Amino acid sequence: MNLNETKQREQWGSKIGFILAAAGSAVGLGNIWKFPYLAGSNGGGAFVFVYFGLLLIIGFTLMMAELTVGRHTQLSPVGAYRKIKEKWAWVGAIGVLAGFLILSFYSVIGGWVINYIVKALTGAFHVADASEFATMFGSFISSPFEPIIYQAIFMLMTVGIVIGGISGGIEKYSKILMPGLFVMLMLVVIRSITLPNAMEGVKFFLVPDFSKITPAVLLAALGQVFFSLSLGMGAMITYGSYLSKDENLVSSSFQIPLLDTAVALLAGLAILPAVFSFGFSPEQGPGLLFVTLPAVFDAMPLGGVFGFLFFVLVLFAAVTSSISLLEVSVSYVVDELNWDRKKASLVLGLIIFIIGVPSSLGLGVWDHIKLIKGKDILDTVSFIAENVLLPLGGMLLCIFIGWIWGLDNAYKEVTNDGKIKFGLMHVWGFLIKYIAPIAILVVFLQGVFA
Ligand code: TRP
Repeated sequence: MNLNETKQREQWGSKIGFILAAAGSAVGLGNIWKFPYLAGSNGGGAFVFVYFGLLLIIGFTLMMAELTVGRHTQLSPVGAYRKIKEKWAWVGAIGVLAGFLILSFYSVIGGWVINYIVKALTGAFHVADASEFATMFGSFISSPFEPIIYQAIFMLMTVGIVIGGISGGIEKYSKILMPGLFVMLMLVVIRSITLPNAMEGVKFFLVPDFSKITPAVLLAALGQVFFSLSLGMGAMITYGSYLSKDENLVSSSFQIPLLDTAVALLAGLAILPAVFSFGFSPEQGPGLLFVTLPAVFDAMPLGGVFGFLFFVLVLFAAVTSSISLLEVSVSYVVDELNWDRKKASLVLGLIIFIIGVPSSLGLGVWDHIKLIKGKDILDTVSFIAENVLLPLGGMLLCIFIGWIWGLDNAYKEVTNDGKIKFGLMHVWGFLIKYIAPIAILVVFLQGVFA
């Protein structure tokens, strides 16, 4: 980013810088850790099918919507809403809350990834029987202190980068490490689908059994579209606010979701075939990645090295996402309360860390605590954030654009005052004004009350 004197606002150094930052926010644990296990416990292909449907009508639509509002106002969410319509500023605040909650458990999982880097280094991925990986994972996450220490390390990394500013290192490293992650995932996919019996897993993942589509599957997929694309809390409004007026919003709004989905699909193909090959259960939830991939690495030549590299790249992807989560609340406090950036990052980072501790303990010493629908603490927090707050934020944004700001104003911004051709412009407008908000509401109500 460089300072643009006339507008007094930082802007992305280049088009590629913006795409990398936005894709860096989108591609993270949501793709590599969450997508495969959600697919595993929600009927495989049925989940993937529904995910694609919702991605088409809601994902692309909202990506464009957030970037448009951000670039138009050149402000982060609360200010952006306020600038267009004073009374709507509170919608931005819902996003700040969602970001808080998501980062609280995101840092727990980020900590697990760091622990697995250490495990790869110390040769723990070499065992006599693949079933030992489940025991190894279980005893790690249920221990009272270790995961919290790793969670703290993850949080410190996030805070450190947000204090230092995103422009310097991250943009540079992203250009190497994101493609690196892509290549590494491909290698793991190749190993995974060539394991004995792997085709059963490929079929499970890609061939939909429509009878498995239930209201709960729909709601899980809806939450995942928001979570994976970093939508519904204003992260993309913030990123869009750093975009210059002659950038092409239309192409970015397609590229980011496509890239994000490609990584999620690769992760699914890296994990689920191996799950079937080793005879693990696809329905085991958050542990799926951590139990399955070490077994795949163990079945690869130089598995320890691959495992180490893989988890380092996953950590990088997770950090480029977590900084965008922290950034939203930091910029809110900096703008609204006039705190300096360093104080805001440290204080908010500490509060979010503390809120995250129970999520970690809920998998061990507090595992008797079950909240919404029998879920543990981590699952409950993630349910409230992803399946309630993000869809709510997304729905309100659609209503805001379609009915308050007005489609004509949005069209002007998207097309740079008519300079960019966008053949589907009216389809997008129709989706924003009617289809997307209704679809979100229906899926939400069904999923919660069915
Ligand atoms: N999209 C990220 C992932 O898939 C997580 C994330 C980063 C996020 N920023 C966000 C989710 C903002 C929702 C909103 O890992």
